[in-house]
Amino acid sequence: MEIKKENLKVLFSKDQLHARIKELAQEINTLYKDEELTAICVLKGAVIFATDLIRELDMPVQIEFIRLSSYGSSTTTSGKVNAVDIKLPDLNNKNVLIIEDIVDTGLTAKFLIDFMHLNFHVKSLKFCSLLDKKITRKVDIEPDYYGFDVDDKFVVGYGLDYDGYYRNLPYIGYIE
Ligand code: IMP
Ligand code: MG
Repeated sequence: MEIKKENLKVLFSKDQLHARIKELAQEINTLYKDEELTAICVLKGAVIFATDLIRELDMPVQIEFIRLSSYGSSTTTSGKVNAVDIKLPDLNNKNVLIIEDIVDTGLTAKFLIDFMHLNFHVKSLKFCSLLDKKITRKVDIEPDYYGFDVDDKFVVGYGLDYDGYYRNLPYIGYIE
């Protein structure tokens, strides 16, 4: 672990994150009014965001977890998405909301959206990411909902890691 906590700059504080997540939840509550929802949390990065977000949702929610990885160095993605663990119940005719930490190249998002359409006839499919790093996008994909834009910074905290560390930070920081 090369980065010291002291060398991290705060990008989004705990209060900023919580305020924005409440706003996102309100949008999602409006969309699915009187409907049920299956939220799919993409492990490990989205776990903190997903658990905070779903607690703000009003409709009946079921939560599922899937685990993906894209190999690369500590701060880059390889561009190859690897399905480590995708075991899902029957999602035919369900409203599905995929919850991610960050859309970077977009390859993970594309993989997941394609996977859902290949395997299920969902009633609706939306993609919600806490962060959107548009500048590094490689495929033409946009999250339906996202919390904040980030420019070309490597960010950690609130679920996002550097070499497996810093997921527990209550804020989003970046390495200078
Ligand atoms: P993709 O490039 O859009 O497929 O994103 C793949 C994954 O890379 C994300 O789900 C994150 O786990 C990880 N990732 C991308 N950018 C960052 C970052 O700035 N910090 C930590 N993880 C990141
Ligand atoms: Mg991730």
